[in-house]
Amino acid sequence: MTLWQGRFSGGPAPELLDFTVSLAVDRRLATDDIAGSRAHVRGLGRAGVLDDGEVETVLAALDAVDEELASGSFDFAPGDEDIHTAVERRVTELAGPAGAKLHTGRSRNDQVATDLRLWCKRELASVAVLGIELQQVLLDRAVEAGGAYLPGYTHLQRAQPVLLAHHLLAHGWALARDVDRLLATRARLDVSPLGAGALAGSSLPLDPDAVAADLGFAGRFENSLDAVSDRDFVAEALFDLALLGVHLSRIGEELVLWNSDEFGFLVLDDAWATGSSMLPQKKNPDVAELARGKAGRLIGHLTGMLTTLKGLPLAYNRDLQEDKEPLFDAVDQVRPALAALAGLLASATFRTDRMAAAADGPAAAAVDLAEHLVAGGMPFRDAHAVVGRLVRQAADDEDDGALAHLVAAAPELGPEAVGLLEPGTAVSRRTTAGGAGPEAVAVQLERFRARLSSDRERLGAAAAP
Ligand code: ARG
Repeated sequence: MTLWQGRFSGGPAPELLDFTVSLAVDRRLATDDIAGSRAHVRGLGRAGVLDDGEVETVLAALDAVDEELASGSFDFAPGDEDIHTAVERRVTELAGPAGAKLHTGRSRNDQVATDLRLWCKRELASVAVLGIELQQVLLDRAVEAGGAYLPGYTHLQRAQPVLLAHHLLAHGWALARDVDRLLATRARLDVSPLGAGALAGSSLPLDPDAVAADLGFAGRFENSLDAVSDRDFVAEALFDLALLGVHLSRIGEELVLWNSDEFGFLVLDDAWATGSSMLPQKKNPDVAELARGKAGRLIGHLTGMLTTLKGLPLAYNRDLQEDKEPLFDAVDQVRPALAALAGLLASATFRTDRMAAAADGPAAAAVDLAEHLVAGGMPFRDAHAVVGRLVRQAADDEDDGALAHLVAAAPELGPEAVGLLEPGTAVSRRTTAGGAGPEAVAVQLERFRARLSSDRERLGAAAAP
């Protein structure tokens, strides 16, 4: 049975139903749909559209439907096109004529927008919680890393040594921005569309402010056309999740590299590695690879949603039904990726010996030699050329100590500059704020810790009912 039999002489074609049903996807909105209906029914009671007895009857029927859906005993009927239809049908079966009043002054257009915003408020917060947990793992590993250092890279060429803690926190700060974006998106979407009706509001004395407050929204819509057609919040959430996915992808890519024999910077715990069905010797970083791979799909969801929205005239169009699958899937992909990367990173062993050996290559201190010359008054461009020549000469020499000999022999530098090439010296000289050396990183660790705890508080406040 459809919600519109009066206007139609016959039922819908089976192929129409096949093509238009969304129940398999939007049944995930059941709890939010029922929450929206409870608030709407109370609003209808305040407006005098339903009397107290009817409000009670419909609320009791909604409780029963909630219960049936939660326990799995809810019987979906073949005509249940979407979750809204299914809930209304069942409420009417249970509550009789009072149930038939549930949809007064409401459309599925404001209803679905309400449901989806409620869903986003909860689920985006849960993604942010996992984001913070991954940041905590990065912080713990950074603290534990102490003075360990590795090459910092540009163009994937060894550039300057950096503390391992510094490298780990670089990913941590990116995740902190992701959490910030999720919370900002969540705050922006905290607007109730309920009461916008199909597109224009209602002739009944409904009070959108009161239902917004009842549902825990920060406020109500300003414009009914906008309220039912705005899916900015879905696009924003998809962007936040796609960018978070891109950050996880970059972490994944580095873990794959570090785990390779060629780098050898990382040993995966057995619980966080996979084997090969054919090659007995293999221990593979599938978690890191999937974390990298999921980004493609997340970006696809964002571009798909934007493309769906771009040509839509006001107000509601059925195209908007396409918003849920990408949104749900994006959340479903990101959450386990965050949890799995946290587990992998918490349990992996960093080969700090190999990292140091790679970072202590003589050329890693080249800029320190140049800055030593600058301290003596030489213009940087000249100093760059002097050191560049020495590095070039040393590169032609098999001997690892070639640069040290050349530095000692260079009239501009001399034996006291050779100390700059000592293992571990270069990283200790990165002293500026936000830099890669021990003093700066100690400050950074504290600032990161403070950021994490203030984000936890923000999230706690946001998630409070
Ligand atoms: N399943 C629909 C959606 O997700 C619900 C709203 C349907 N509205 C309508 N006018 N057909 O958008």
